[in-house]
Amino acid sequence: MAPVKNICCIGAGYVGGPTCAVIAYKCHDIKVTICDINANRIDAWMSDKLPIYEPGLDEIVFSRRGKNLFFSTNVDKHIQEADLIFVSVNTPTKKQGLGAGMAADLAYVEAATRRIAQVSTSSKIVVEKSTVPCRTAESMRAILEANCTPHVSFDILSNPEFLAEGTAVADLLNPDRVLIGSLQTESGKIAQAALADVYAHWIPRENIITTNLWSSELSKLAANALLAQRISSINALSAVCEATGADVDEVAYACGRDSRIGSKFLKASVGFGGSCFQKDILNLVYLSTQLNLPEVADYWMQVYTMNEYQKNRFVRTIINTLFNTITGKKIAVLGFAFKKDTGDTRESAAITLIKSFLQENARVAIYDPKVEKEQIYLDLSEPGVLDNRQQVERGVHICASAYEAAKDADALVIVTEWDEFRHLDYSRIYKDMHKPAFVFDGRLMLDAPALRNMGFKVHVIGKNSLEGRA
Ligand code: UDX
Ligand code: UDX
Ligand code: ADP
Repeated sequence: MAPVKNICCIGAGYVGGPTCAVIAYKCHDIKVTICDINANRIDAWMSDKLPIYEPGLDEIVFSRRGKNLFFSTNVDKHIQEADLIFVSVNTPTKKQGLGAGMAADLAYVEAATRRIAQVSTSSKIVVEKSTVPCRTAESMRAILEANCTPHVSFDILSNPEFLAEGTAVADLLNPDRVLIGSLQTESGKIAQAALADVYAHWIPRENIITTNLWSSELSKLAANALLAQRISSINALSAVCEATGADVDEVAYACGRDSRIGSKFLKASVGFGGSCFQKDILNLVYLSTQLNLPEVADYWMQVYTMNEYQKNRFVRTIINTLFNTITGKKIAVLGFAFKKDTGDTRESAAITLIKSFLQENARVAIYDPKVEKEQIYLDLSEPGVLDNRQQVERGVHICASAYEAAKDADALVIVTEWDEFRHLDYSRIYKDMHKPAFVFDGRLMLDAPALRNMGFKVHVIGKNSLEGRA
């Protein structure tokens, strides 16, 4: 097969945008066009302010844009011109109908696939990049084969993306592995090799893994489920630590030093968020249920349940500590994104926490260095009715700094681990807060003893800390 020369990426989001920008950056001999039906998003990709924030992404995009990296809303034209197409559209959890709240909504994948079948005039490799339930590639193949024009054929590959937000560029430049699944047919294997050659421009061959289609699809769900499981495991232990006097950071360190366990993804927190973990676990649960494996479904469901428990437990601690009521009190929330170094708020723990504070009629002041004000209001008023939006706007104030948020607050709650929160002038914050001034560290990131010396009452997840024992 001739080498890939022209790539079209359908979907200019968190996955498609950075992935294909890095391919263009590393493969000057390949023309890469990232398409989206959302014209605002494409305009933003072509402007000075890219639609997503990722450290290092601006430099990569600006260095290749207009050379071999292009952005367009003309999806059909670029499908036609491409010899390889990445399908990187969104796959949210279904909101209604069969599998609501659990199964992935594949409507966008199906629409993009039908479009490819309709407009293609030459044979192509179609790459499933969005995280999708196992066997989606089979559905895509059926749609392509049933709708294509004569003499046009398609090879389907599964090439799940493992990048994490906030480190997308570093992950893409230096991935632990790239996974490419294909049908074990001759043409499937040829297509697999063609995509491997693209990545081999900068990734050592031994890090490019090839498997069958179904292993590849399941590996993405499995990897995210295993990572989320580690967080739920350490978070479950954080509750035991708080009840005993053990320190969850010390426990995580001691366990992580066992090379069979490893140290990563053992940071206790207020709960995991992001567009992937919850969605993929629920996908796996749904898949297991469909496959008539209820024990397996129950097992993975517990990872999700523990995450909900952790968020609710933190809210309960805050209310109990503030003398069993937060009605009318001001709570300063530092961080709204689901993790640091991203402006993404999907499934952020902040949303659950703040909704609970509002239900208790607290006043909430929020500061996040990257999340837009409108996004916060949207997230908090979802599912959106106007009344709800007005209620949110009454109860929530979005601030331009941590200091503004903390002024006259009864409690300061750390939800996202932005580095700048380590270096705030906490003596200034202490002076400005109501007394007793409470700090709730949901990210185990502040210097609790130093804060206590200033006069703060500090609670840290996973540490029996309000008693000052930690
Ligand atoms: C275990 C711990 O490894 C050790 O650190 C602790 O001090 C005591 O408990 P042990 O039970 O002796 O040690 O053996 P281990 O190698 O951990 O295996 C335990 C069981 O798990 C065995 O039945 C083994 O076959 C099984 N196992 C282990 C798997 O099924 N899969 C694996 O990947 C590893
Ligand atoms: C994740 C996977 O890491 C990535 O491989 C996959 O492609 C997409 O899903 P992402 O959701 O972007 O990436 O970020 P990640 O760093 O995994 O964090 C997810 C959530 O877990 C965040 O809310 C983070 O704060 C939380 N987390 C992570 C912890 O609470 N503790 C940890 O030790 C690690
Ligand atoms: P992810 O995090 O998986 O990248 P995003 O929601 O950030 O998800 O991005 C997916 C993008 O795919 C959105 O910008 C959306 O407009 C785009 N999209 C969805 N369906 C189509 C389609 N049929 N053609 C082109 N773009 C699409």
